[in-house]
Amino acid sequence: MVVYQVYPRSFQDSNGDGIGDLAGITQRLEYLEWLGVDALWLNPTFPSADADWGYDVVDYYGVHPDLGTLDDLDELVAAAGRRGIRVLLDLVPGHTSLRHPWFRERPDRYVWADADDGPPNAWLSASAAPAWTRDDATGRWYQHTFRPEQPDLNWWSEEVRDEFDRILAFWFERGIAGFRIDAAARVVKSRDLAAAPVGPWSRPPPDLEQVHEVLRRWRRVADRYGDRLLLGQTWIEDTGGLGAFLGNGDELQLVQPFTLPVAQFYASVLHEVVAEVETSLGGRDAAVWQASSHDAIRFPTRWGACDERRTRAALVLLLGLRGTVVLYYGDELGMEQVHLPAAVARDHWGRDGCRTPMQWADCAGGGFTDAGVTAWLPCGDLQVNVEGQRGDPASTLALCRSLIALRRELPDLRDGAYRRLDAPPGVWACSRGDGVAVVANLSGAVVSLSGIEGIVRLATERTRAGEAVAGALRLEPWEAVVLAA
Ligand code: BGC
Repeated sequence: MVVYQVYPRSFQDSNGDGIGDLAGITQRLEYLEWLGVDALWLNPTFPSADADWGYDVVDYYGVHPDLGTLDDLDELVAAAGRRGIRVLLDLVPGHTSLRHPWFRERPDRYVWADADDGPPNAWLSASAAPAWTRDDATGRWYQHTFRPEQPDLNWWSEEVRDEFDRILAFWFERGIAGFRIDAAARVVKSRDLAAAPVGPWSRPPPDLEQVHEVLRRWRRVADRYGDRLLLGQTWIEDTGGLGAFLGNGDELQLVQPFTLPVAQFYASVLHEVVAEVETSLGGRDAAVWQASSHDAIRFPTRWGACDERRTRAALVLLLGLRGTVVLYYGDELGMEQVHLPAAVARDHWGRDGCRTPMQWADCAGGGFTDAGVTAWLPCGDLQVNVEGQRGDPASTLALCRSLIALRRELPDLRDGAYRRLDAPPGVWACSRGDGVAVVANLSGAVVSLSGIEGIVRLATERTRAGEAVAGALRLEPWEAVVLAA
């Protein structure tokens, strides 16, 4: 499966306010169908206080007014369905906004502690500040794994568990195909406040037994609705533990580690990362791979050093992995990280540069918004755009589209077991199932591999398509190919 991740504020503005919205995504479905993706994952669409742009929810049953209405979401889901594209929402169960009415009306839904002199223990939040803030109104401390504006929910509370059963059911009934679940592996926090700090950041540790119980509970709700998907963000320190989140087929269906967005672009490192995940899943086809994300520097900048050849090789590698691949909007164009001056920054954690508007065309507004309108974040280099690449068979977009089509055509490329092949240093080489091999030269030197056979089905250098390889394969710097028997 290929999932296309849309940051809704930045994809398409349909009403000229400089902010992307759901009706805008609906307008662009034709493009997504043409690209060939199977599903859309929308970053949070719920009403939010925007301290973390959607990840601080104030109402789990609604739509952020900047993005549209529930009707717009229904319309998007229906229109996507007509094109064979499923829609996944981003569920944020770990915390709400401080401005969620529950915080005052249902304080038992949050994690509190009493302490006189400073925070109740040494746990730190994701920004390395204390994971506790004193609530002026009550004098008590509340826990927050992320920002103080994002109080952690108390997943030991039956009321919270029941409420989320209702939230899941509410969206499934509206036709949502499933959820990407934010921080799924940590949702229930340890109750043991005296526990020694754990992990590099000493964050509030999860109670894993309880996490599994909650995952099973969500799965039971999902299964009531038939073919629904639970794709959980499982960013854990020990990749070896990933498989546990699948349970006995009764927890998550797909796990999303965050290993590629932080890995270096060396063949040996990437092989290690992929092998670790593959091993921990024990042959189950449940990995979700992505190279860019709304939390990381875009891969054409991070891996590609803004060199198109490197970006294209990375796309072959990525779309040659087993399981589910997420393309973050713009990856298919080789859209780069945008360097933004501090004066226009919107995110506390400095992630704006990977969240800039989708680059549709080289014109004022970039095809994202109307000419003369100030977009909520400035556009990047508009010379890299859909309009320019869509009709060009040599473009990165065309390469990406062909890779997606090839995944549909060759089941081995999609689901076939991954096995690392012998190759010179700097070369990524693996077989997929019985009939497919993916080879990418991630170095600046010409390389030769032996023992490789097959027909080149797709290559970064288009003229190589159709070439028969019988024993020896020579690749120019940053050249990549997919071979099939
Ligand atoms: C999301 C981030 C978000 C954080 C807090 C992460 O897992 O991917 O974008 O800031 O959760 O909700």
